[in-house]
Amino acid sequence: MKHFLTVVILGAAVVTLVSAASTDGAISFEYHRYEELRKALVSVWLQCPTITRIYTIGESFEGRELLVLEMSDNPGTHEPGEPEFKYIANMHGNEAVGRELLIYLAQYLCNQYQQGNETIIDLIHNTRIHLMPSMNPDGFEKAASQPGEIKDWFVGRSNAQGVDLNRNFPDLDRIIYINEREGGANNHLLQNMKKAVDENTKLAPETKAVIHWIMDIPFVLSANLHGGDVVANYPYDETRTGSTHEYSASPDDVMFKSLARAYSMYNPVMSDPHRAPCRKNDDDSSFKDGITNGGAWYSVPGGMQDFNYLSSNSFEITLELSCDKFPNEETLKSYWEQNRNSLVNYIEQVHRGVKGFIRDLQGNPISNATVSVEGIDHDITTAKDGDYWRLLAPGNYKVAASAPGYLTVIKKVAVPYSPATRVDFELESLMERKEEEREELMDWWKMMSETLNF
Ligand SMILES: *[C@@H]1O[C@H](CO)[C@@H](O)[C@H](O)[C@H]1NC(C)=O
Ligand SMILES: *[C@@H]1O[C@H](CO)[C@@H](O)[C@H](O)[C@H]1NC(C)=O
Ligand SMILES: [Zn+2]
Repeated sequence: MKHFLTVVILGAAVVTLVSAASTDGAISFEYHRYEELRKALVSVWLQCPTITRIYTIGESFEGRELLVLEMSDNPGTHEPGEPEFKYIANMHGNEAVGRELLIYLAQYLCNQYQQGNETIIDLIHNTRIHLMPSMNPDGFEKAASQPGEIKDWFVGRSNAQGVDLNRNFPDLDRIIYINEREGGANNHLLQNMKKAVDENTKLAPETKAVIHWIMDIPFVLSANLHGGDVVANYPYDETRTGSTHEYSASPDDVMFKSLARAYSMYNPVMSDPHRAPCRKNDDDSSFKDGITNGGAWYSVPGGMQDFNYLSSNSFEITLELSCDKFPNEETLKSYWEQNRNSLVNYIEQVHRGVKGFIRDLQGNPISNATVSVEGIDHDITTAKDGDYWRLLAPGNYKVAASAPGYLTVIKKVAVPYSPATRVDFELESLMERKEEEREELMDWWKMMSETLNF
């Protein structure tokens, strides 16, 4: 992850131009081309330097940076125990609303933080938030370059090589469906395969960069912003049988529905039961309360959403935000108003379920330990500092912590809607246990020999 120094220096020149718009608390509701996007992020950074950082995870095929704005009380570091969240927009370059909403969200969070909004201050102090307004900057430039207000439905969807990035991820659904039947891992299916990813020539540079990002940072929750319809879509996206429409529940179906609702509920258009389909012939029969299972709507192999869940700890949903993929600039403000509360509320979902630390008896963190929940065939692993976050819907659970070489510990936990319940585990190593048993045996032997007067 390259540092942002060069952009910052370039950015300094434009500060005077752009700062006026954000310091008065106003958001300018307009489209941002590539250079303008950079400037907008730099201006948020200059306005809120103590809680933001700009970095890039790599470059597009045509060499544009995949920029991320991070917002946290300690930008640049993973704080032990603090969950990480990400929004990615515009992976289909012609789906422009999400890209703009993430810029406005960054401006909004920075403004509200400065104005002392307690909700936003708490959120930023307790969460590491990453915003990537565009995963496909080349496609966006192509879509935005079309003359006139009406944009073609497909121009700019793919990256500059013609690759649809939301069909380009390794198809881990096929692997999990085999493992479900025949046994095998139920999480982190790309474990120890980073090299194979790097050498895979079918993966676009944007896809590779995002795969590394997903696997390097301990994300807990994310969403992926699209356009062309209005619904919150949750895993799995790819059907088990390969049929076009089929409800495809993941082991975390209950929680995913709850997460999708946490978005749709706060969006009056998305949750409107009487909302007409975007187009007369659209089949929205799988939509309910503004949410849908991915496979029930239509099967998507190689998508980013399922990849997150199956290759990392991150739960991801896909948000369709507008019937028009590239609507008129004048409508952008209304999309912000529809989505603002949803965007903030969804980030807050990262503070649900069970969280804590797994350590050994000496208090040393155990990284890559496994957290399993009885009845849910999808495990979570601890991050570097032994910290973990296990998203769960309200209920009573048996949670087990295990690691190779340690005795497993199981705890009963009652989980409310929120906040997350703190549950720490101390694991005894098998070597310590053997040592204890040996000492007990010695004590017994000593006692016996004294009693019997050997
Ligand atoms: C603070 O932020 C929350 C979340 O976005 C929002 O609902 C609330 O209206 C804000 N408060 C003020 C005083 O603006
Ligand atoms: C994490 O643990 C799993 C299983 O316990 C193991 O297969 C994997 O190699 C470990 N990963 C790392 C990075 O140590
Ligand atoms: Zn899309």
